[in-house]
This record gives sequence, structure tokens and C-alpha cells, in this order.
Amino acid sequence: MSRRKKVYEGKAKILYEGPEPGTLVQYFKDDATAFNAEKKAVIDGKGVLNNRLSEFFMTGLAAIGVPTHFIRRLNMREQLIRQVEIVPLEVIVRNFAAGSMAKRLGMEEGTQLPRPIVEFSFKNDALGDPLVPEEYIIAFGWANQQELDDIISLALRVNDFMSGVMHGVGIKLIDFKVEFGRIWENDFPRLLLADEISPDSCRLWDIETGRKLDKDVFRRDLGSLTDAYTEVARRLGVLPSNVTHRPKPTLIN
Ligand code: TMP
Repeated sequence: MSRRKKVYEGKAKILYEGPEPGTLVQYFKDDATAFNAEKKAVIDGKGVLNNRLSEFFMTGLAAIGVPTHFIRRLNMREQLIRQVEIVPLEVIVRNFAAGSMAKRLGMEEGTQLPRPIVEFSFKNDALGDPLVPEEYIIAFGWANQQELDDIISLALRVNDFMSGVMHGVGIKLIDFKVEFGRIWENDFPRLLLADEISPDSCRLWDIETGRKLDKDVFRRDLGSLTDAYTEVARRLGVLPSNVTHRPKPTLIN
């Protein structure tokens, strides 16, 4: 792995040069961070689960015509993706109030919103990914109006797909974050869904019990994150037998 050229390292993933021009290898780490990396931990097996889950969602989205960066999974922790020019926005879709929206507006978490709401944060860790209005996006050239319209309609299609898939396994999709990237085809830009879709970037609540099955388990110290993600993977039928979370071998003295 160290022989490959590292292109970028983020908080939860590493990007390496891919085998062909225009491709990258996306490696899922076990690292978990919250509150802009103020809180950190290594969660055994998280990378393996997120690699599988992101593959599952991206493949399903591609099947309904949402263009994505995903090409194929390579192994337990890596997937081959198309290299894109990332649009510097965190695109958040909310169905129910939670997290920063609940806090900002003084709403009770879990309150259903009148309709799905799309909001944008400027992707900049040093600034703590501030929420930005559409006007900023256009004025600062992070995306043009056509791209922004496409991003909103793609994000809403992702929401419909994800909400339906989750509902089918007894999970409520509260909100999620996605990112988009551009590829250039004959000098024309085309948007692709990029990054990852996993319980790291969604809020997922069990419909019956309200149990949280997403990164809030880590943010709020609610128990085992691996157990929560394993439960999501198990319900979706994407848990291969070699991914189960086994106890570590113990040394016999
Ligand atoms: P928020 O309520 O904290 O603004 O989060 C909204 C959604 O975005 C939630 O599903 C978690 C996800 N998210 C990320 O994926 N990355 C981030 O850095 C943050 C702050 C939120």
C-alpha cells in the first residue's frame, strides 16, 4: 500500500492514485472524528462496514440513474472510483429536525419537516464547514446556477432512494450529507455523486425504538458504533460473513 502515491488524506478516508488515469483508490480508515476532529477514536471495523455500505448505496443509486463516482469495490477496505473535481460543498438533506438544525431553531429532534430541506455548508475544516446560502455558492463560483439546480435535484433523488431503502428495513432516514464532483467530458462538466454514503454521514433511527444507528452513537457516547453500523449492514443484507465483528484473539500465557 505504501508504494502507491497518496493523493489526499481526510479524516475517515485516504485517496491513492488509481490504476488508470482518471481513477483513484478510496481507502476507508477505522478513524472516527466528530465536532471537526475535536473528538477522535479508532473504531475497529468501521472502515470495512462503510466501504460495503457505500458500495451498496452507490450501486443502487446508479441503478436508478443517479451518476456516481463508484466503479467497483476492490477489497475489504478499498474501492475504485472516478477522479472528480470536488464541489466544495456539503449538501445536507433533512427530513426530520435533528443536530444543528434542531439546535439552531430550537426544535425537538425528530420533528417531521414540512418537506425535505436541502442546505449547504462550505467545505472548509478551518472554518468548521459554515452553513452558506445559495447566493454565496453562485457569487463565489463554487458552482454555477445550472450545477446548483442539478445538485438539488440529485440530492432529492438520493433522499427518495435512501428513505425508501431504509424504510424497507425499519429505519427512518432523518438526514444525511453528500458531496458532488465534476468530471470533464469534451470540455463539458458533468456532476457525479462522490465521497461516500454511510452511517458516518447519515442520521438513521430505528422506526420502532428510536435507537440511533449512525455516527451520533459516537458523537454522543451512546454505545458501540460498530454494533450500530453492523445492525444497518445486517438489515440491508450487505454483511458478508467475513465482516462480522469478532472478538480479538487473546494471548494465552
Ligand atoms: P448536522 O445536523 O450536524 O448539521 O448534520 C447534518 C447531517 O450531516 C448529519 O446526517 C450528519 C452529517 N454530517 C456529516 O456527514 N459531516 C459533518 O461534518 C457534519 C457536521 C454532519
